[in-house]
Amino acid sequence: MKVYISNNTEALAVIAAEAIASVIERTPKPVLGVATGSSPLPIYRELSRRVGDGYEMSSATAFALDEYVGIPTDHPQSYLQVIRREVQIPLGLKADRVFVPDGRAADLSQACADYEKAITEAGGIDLQILGIGSDGHIGFNEPSSSLASRTRAVALMEETRNDNARFFDGLDQVPMRCLTQGIGTILEAGEIVLMAQGASKAKAVASMVEGPISASCPASALQLHPEVIVLLDEDAAAGLRFTAYYRSSYPVERWATASSG
Ligand code: GLP
Repeated sequence: MKVYISNNTEALAVIAAEAIASVIERTPKPVLGVATGSSPLPIYRELSRRVGDGYEMSSATAFALDEYVGIPTDHPQSYLQVIRREVQIPLGLKADRVFVPDGRAADLSQACADYEKAITEAGGIDLQILGIGSDGHIGFNEPSSSLASRTRAVALMEETRNDNARFFDGLDQVPMRCLTQGIGTILEAGEIVLMAQGASKAKAVASMVEGPISASCPASALQLHPEVIVLLDEDAAAGLRFTAYYRSSYPVERWATASSG
């Protein structure tokens, strides 16, 4: 993993945007994996700024990581709407090239199988953008998820529902289940860029980067992927103890811009 640590969020977002631009330039039909949540918003802001300056992203297809089960498709917190609002419109992607798992499907297993098929038919995900949950989840792969899992319906843990309650009118409004790409699905992406901010993510980030590969921290499976960029602020990086000692030889690099010191 390449870990970049800085409180200059905009500069970190530029690193992500450059990786995405590189995929778009070298791939005739680029496929991006896109995440919801607050963590990747600086990346979308940077891309949207570039699109505003004339940068063209409309050749890209995008697949969302997950969706709540049963949430109305027009609910502002459905990931269908979040992805439309935060990604598809600002980045100028074609509406019919942006896919979100169907959390309203009568047959959820079939919807998950169809989603995997759509990813395969699009040629696979070239670059996956990720956030991380405070319990170490990626997508909605909660602790105890199989590291080989595929897109499926899962139950959300209380910690995740509590974390996401801020987007709803209270905890009881947060759906109990969701569809999520599996960890095995995520690991098939060509490249992965994960962004995390804040002290609430420090423990999960430390387990992801330096902990044992374990279903207790689903994000630790990313250690198995050869092309992962992790973009952290100082608070989210606070638990990375090896980084402090082995900066030169450990495969994690410390990075800061002049403006963040
Ligand atoms: C959500 C999403 C994840 C996201 C995570 C962190 O539940 N399913 O994809 O990475 O939780 O969210 P945030 O970035 O808002 O902290």
